[in-house]
Amino acid sequence: MEHSEKIRRRYDRIAGVFNFMDRAMTKGTNKWREKPFTMIKGTKILEIGVGTGANLPYYSPEHQVTAIDFSSKMLRHAHNLVNELELNVTLLEMDAQNLSFDDHTFDTVLTSCVFCSVPAPLLGLSEIKRVLKPHGRLVMLEHVLSDKPVLNKIMNVANPLVVKVSGANINRTTKFNLEKAGFDVEEEDLWLDILKLFVATPKELHL
Ligand SMILES: C[S@@+](CC[C@H](N)C(=O)[O-])C[C@H]1O[C@@H](n2cnc3c(N)ncnc32)[C@H](O)[C@@H]1O
Repeated sequence: MEHSEKIRRRYDRIAGVFNFMDRAMTKGTNKWREKPFTMIKGTKILEIGVGTGANLPYYSPEHQVTAIDFSSKMLRHAHNLVNELELNVTLLEMDAQNLSFDDHTFDTVLTSCVFCSVPAPLLGLSEIKRVLKPHGRLVMLEHVLSDKPVLNKIMNVANPLVVKVSGANINRTTKFNLEKAGFDVEEEDLWLDILKLFVATPKELHL
C-alpha cells in the first residue's frame, strides 16, 4: 500500500525528535499514559504502534509483552529503552494491518495514539480482533474527531495539513470504526471529547 509506505517513512523521519515533540505536546505529564494500564487483563499482551517505547515502563513483570511498529527507526529507540531498563519485551517490525500472529493469541491488545495514523483503520481493527483471544480486550488511548460542531468543523478543515506535517489524522471516528469492525465499545472522555479511553471486546461473545 503506497499510503502506508508514506506514513511509515514519515515516522522513520521524525523518530529522532519524537520524544521531544511528545513531551512538548503532553506538557511533561504521563497521567494519560497510566490510564490504559488499569484496564489490562491477562498476561499475554500485544502493543500496536509501540513507537519509541513510552508505554513500556508501565507494564508489570508478569506481563508477557510483544510490541510492534512498522517504523524501524521508531523501533530502534524502543530497543534502546528496553536494553536500558532491562525490560522483558519482544519488539517486532510489523504492520498493524497485516499481523503475523495466529488467531486468538493475546489477552489484551493496547494502543496509544496509533489509530490516528494507521492508514486503513478498519483493516487494523479487524486484525486486532482476529488475534485477540475470545475473551480478550482491546484498550485504546486515542484522540478522535470532536462531536462539538465548531471543533468538528475546525478539525475536519485542518486535517489535511496536520496529516501532511505529522502523519496523524485529527478527524478519526474511532468508536464508529470499532463498532464496524465488530467490537462492543465502552468509552471515557479524558480531555474534552477528543482524547478518549476505549475498552472494546469482540461482539460475538455477547450473542
Ligand atoms: C504517534 S506515534 C505513538 C507511539 C506510542 N504508541 C506512544 O504512545 O508514544 C504512532 C506510532 O504508530 C506507528 N504506526 C502507525 N501506523 C502503523 C501500522 N499500520 N502498523 C504499525 N505501526 C504503526 C507509527 O510508526 C508510530 O510509531
